[in-house]
Amino acid sequence: MSLTLIRPDDWHVHLRDEAMLRAVLPDTARRFARAIVMPNLKSPVRTVAEARAYRDRILAARPAGSAFEPLMTLYLTDNTPVTEIERARASGFVHAVKYYPAGATTHSDFGVTSLERCDDALAAMEAVGVPLLVHGEVTDPAVDVFDREAVFIDRILQRVVARFPRLKIVLEHVTTRDGVEFVAAAPATVAATLTAHHLLLNRNAMFQGGIRPHAYCLPVLKRERHREALMAAATSGSPKFFLGTDSAPHARRTKEAACGCAGLYTAHAGIELYAEAFKAAGVLERLEGFASLHGPAFYGLAANRERITLIDDSWPVPDEIDLASAGIADTLVPFRAGGRVGFRIADTGV
Ligand code: DOR
Ligand code: ZN
Repeated sequence: MSLTLIRPDDWHVHLRDEAMLRAVLPDTARRFARAIVMPNLKSPVRTVAEARAYRDRILAARPAGSAFEPLMTLYLTDNTPVTEIERARASGFVHAVKYYPAGATTHSDFGVTSLERCDDALAAMEAVGVPLLVHGEVTDPAVDVFDREAVFIDRILQRVVARFPRLKIVLEHVTTRDGVEFVAAAPATVAATLTAHHLLLNRNAMFQGGIRPHAYCLPVLKRERHREALMAAATSGSPKFFLGTDSAPHARRTKEAACGCAGLYTAHAGIELYAEAFKAAGVLERLEGFASLHGPAFYGLAANRERITLIDDSWPVPDEIDLASAGIADTLVPFRAGGRVGFRIADTGV
């Protein structure tokens, strides 16, 4: 069985920089026409000038013949000036601004300490039409790690949606029933991305016979009842929900450590894993809306012209991906390492 669909886009990916960028970009570029590239580099992408330079490095790292288009984002800080938002809008290549609560996740130290400090920047984004992408977790250490998304919605997101009614907002990598219910009930300005791993796994995956660092990400995997709600949202056909892999590569030694990094690498099967999830729900025909149509419509971009074909045929995932050839003396453990993925893409030669 095969399924042909408009070439998808990834509305949330971490491509990193330098050697890691060169190692991982081909996986994303082979599947997706475009991707929203997260700005949380070690030194975050805070200005349009930095976004332009990062974009140039991504373009230079593309495999020969690839037409992959990186859609750049800026990293919101307490001090992002209104002029930078206007510059972003005028650039033509910066498509959104990412809000990381300070300390919430990888390289978020420069993030926002209190969103009220950003009201001028948010007003400018609302005025010129630049979407706000939200890492929706509070950082309050008193809040249980599994409740951080729900509490974020109550304490922060509600206020932003009410105060900036024309601001486009994406609740990134939504992981809870609370999150999808909030988004579904919110005005059309509010949408959410869903990762394949949060659709396919619940939190038991982190503790399968021992502690599993390669199943650890942020927001952390949740209970089965939440996974079921995410599946229902993704496969509902609602234009508010679209694909964002949140593929986040970390070298093996930084994951298998006393304090391991958060992030799953899924770009090697970035569309195939979603096909598995939609097939399991019995609605493969809805994959195209979720993967190829809802995202561009929300961002005000045209859908892609090209098509790809997915074949219902499994393939083995390697135990690890070599990084030595990219110049890193380590490996990358991909999602489903040593297992199989249930769909493959027909070779397009790209
Ligand atoms: O698991 C995650 N990894 N969550 C994030 O929010 C950041 C990401 C990363 O950059 O590694
Ligand atoms: Zn992310």
